[in-house]
Amino acid sequence: MTGFEPHLISPVGRVRPRRLRATPAMRRLNAQTRVHPASLVLPLFVKEGLREPAPIRSMPGVVQHSRDSLRRAVAQAAEAGIGGVMLFGVPEHRDAVGSQATDPHGVLNVAITDAAREAGDALVVQADLCLDEFTDHGHCGVLTPDGRVDNDATLVRYAAMALAQAQAGAHVVGLSGMMDGQTAAVRDVLDDDGHDDVAVLAYAAKYASAFYGPFREAVDSQLDGDRRTYQMDPANRREAALEVALDIAEGADIVMVKPAMAYLDVLADVAATSTVPVAAYQVSGEYAMIEAAAANGWIDRRRAVMESVLSIRRAGADQVLTYWAVELAGWLQEES
Ligand code: PBG
Repeated sequence: MTGFEPHLISPVGRVRPRRLRATPAMRRLNAQTRVHPASLVLPLFVKEGLREPAPIRSMPGVVQHSRDSLRRAVAQAAEAGIGGVMLFGVPEHRDAVGSQATDPHGVLNVAITDAAREAGDALVVQADLCLDEFTDHGHCGVLTPDGRVDNDATLVRYAAMALAQAQAGAHVVGLSGMMDGQTAAVRDVLDDDGHDDVAVLAYAAKYASAFYGPFREAVDSQLDGDRRTYQMDPANRREAALEVALDIAEGADIVMVKPAMAYLDVLADVAATSTVPVAAYQVSGEYAMIEAAAANGWIDRRRAVMESVLSIRRAGADQVLTYWAVELAGWLQEES
């Protein structure tokens, strides 16, 4: 016999776990995981040339923002008390190397400055550091003449992009491209240029996932094909430890697991071993699935959203990127 086995000692139930479930007050006191607005991050899309926000069909309730509506969304996020925003830009013009990503007047860089001004000290402004929204082929990096994603040539573009984002006022750069060595390349250029205060969030364990589907619509993605030569194989759990170890060694301040719900085992592994904070990204497809089922009346929307984010926290995420961040913060306020 190992440890405490109450059913052997007390067949009539001296130990009754239901005691702690009997009232709302008892359940609240004994909850082993909590979700707090401060640990939520809201992803936001801003599209060049829009006058009004444009709905994203596959993500009901989420929009592509205009420059003005983005400012309002950041103010609302600060008001809601969430921890941060993650910005994605959708440019009007794309090319092979993603020139708009490094142009100080590019849609994302302008949005970073606007958001940082709006946020003040109230929340952390983070920017997606990846080329896929900016390239005409839709890949996260630049291509070799024969069409493969060129890792080391891409690092040069990421370094330039990191500088543009830091100069625009980003507090955190989110490296989502899954190139080898991207964290070191970006950390080095930031430090050399005096931006040692800008933090690096490494999308360390990012899987080649079908759950990014609706995001492709959100950023008008040009991709034809997939990202399996750079994003991780969904079959691999141990490999996440390698990616996380590399990113931490290269100077990552925060590491991420993405997607969240289909990868809670990976998230639990990373949370158990990481020496830096761990983020998880509840991605567009996770959002769309719950919204679609709720719209059909098949699940209770509010309960499903709450449970999904709670499960990601329970698995070990310190912070959660979720499209429900602001609405969820409102519910949490109501309940506290
Ligand atoms: C790449 C990036 C993607 C997402 C965030 N950053 C798309 C991809 O890797 O294909 C997906 C986010 C989501 O699905 O919500 N810039």
